[in-house]
Amino acid sequence: MPELQVSWRRLGVLVSGRGSNLQALIAAIGRRELEATIAVVISNVPGVAALDHAAAAGIETLVLPHTGWPRREAYDEALAEALHARNVEVVCLAGFMRRLSSRFLEVFQGPVLNVHPSLLPAFPGLDSPGQAVAHGVKVAGCTVHLVTAELDAGPIVAQTAVPVLPGDTGETLAARILVEEHRLLPAAVARVVAGGWRIDGRRFVDA
Ligand code: GRF
Repeated sequence: MPELQVSWRRLGVLVSGRGSNLQALIAAIGRRELEATIAVVISNVPGVAALDHAAAAGIETLVLPHTGWPRREAYDEALAEALHARNVEVVCLAGFMRRLSSRFLEVFQGPVLNVHPSLLPAFPGLDSPGQAVAHGVKVAGCTVHLVTAELDAGPIVAQTAVPVLPGDTGETLAARILVEEHRLLPAAVARVVAGGWRIDGRRFVDA
């Protein structure tokens, strides 16, 4: 993956729902903690709150429904093209509830980040806080990782641990994790856009 230092500043954020992580990114950019611009927010679901948050911040929004495409790859190509058309350099999945194929990564080319509500590699997939409570772990958390073709398995950029408390449900634990996601995601995006890193095997390390 080429390292571009200063030019990795144009973000594309992909969303599907509530958009609280998008709001955290917008706030971090406003505070200059994240030196980047969100060029576009794309949702695969119409009418979601994330689109309202983007519009309120004056960010271009685009709804690209995933339904009605002949193949998954056709949708992923259209998504990558929409990002290219806006000169997006780094993609951030912020509650984008759709799996991207390797075709997306081939066409887009640049770094793609995802925030996931577990300490990966534990509890990939859906309802990770619920999985963590059911499993009885004592520590949960969140992970920001680079996206690869394998679900929730790419190089880990940053993680934050959160205690699991007696009486926690998936919902109460998810809420505690979400507070940390809102800190972790902007910091991890800032780390990636700053450059000076490389991938060593499956590890994200300083260059
Ligand atoms: C977050 O918990 C994120 O980790 C997961 O989906 C949720 C999105 O929340 N991938 P929001 O839309 O950012 O509020």
